[in-house]
Amino acid sequence: MKHIILFGPPGAGKGTQAALLVDHLGFLHISTGDLLRAEIAKRTELGIRAAEFIDAGELVPDETVIGMIRNRLQEMCMVPGIIYDGFPRTLPQANALDAMLASRQEQIDGLLSLEVPHEELIKRLTIRGETSGRSDDTDLATIENRIEVYEKKTKPIIDHYEALGHHYPVVGTGNIDEISERLITVIKTRII
Ligand code: C5P
Ligand code: MG
Repeated sequence: MKHIILFGPPGAGKGTQAALLVDHLGFLHISTGDLLRAEIAKRTELGIRAAEFIDAGELVPDETVIGMIRNRLQEMCMVPGIIYDGFPRTLPQANALDAMLASRQEQIDGLLSLEVPHEELIKRLTIRGETSGRSDDTDLATIENRIEVYEKKTKPIIDHYEALGHHYPVVGTGNIDEISERLITVIKTRII
């Protein structure tokens, strides 16, 4: 089973591109953001706790998201691969994921990072906030904070997979199909 992380700052297009990739490749899409929002909608204890972090543009504690991924991975079989969207968000999450996969004699095969300039991210998230109903997209200070949290806590994950020879940067601007083709080309020529 192939394991591919779709990486990038908030607004880079991870969710949009992950959906296209899984359609094309027959992989499974795991979005921790979507899983958390589903918990919030169901008003579970986990969801109620997570909402406080999400609404502030902060990260939900590592143990919580790692636990969600562990549950999903245990259920998983018979898929050719998984696209991780929005996970890992911190180095401890990356290390936990590596360990979970190592115990299955598997590994992260590629981290594809979507590169999008800061002003473009702000523009995309602001527009998304007008239609998505996402509480964390409607306030500019929260948007800025999420990008700052990405720079500080999430971006260092690139170096971790770069050192293992598994980092593939991809230009994340242009139209959606163009970006999708770039990602598929990298996956088909370098990863699968
Ligand atoms: O990935 P997505 O942008 O949909 O995540 C939305 C929010 O969910 C993040 O801004 C963050 O507050 C929270 N989240 C998290 N840890 C993750 C994934 C999402 O804290 N691994
Ligand atoms: Mg997303």
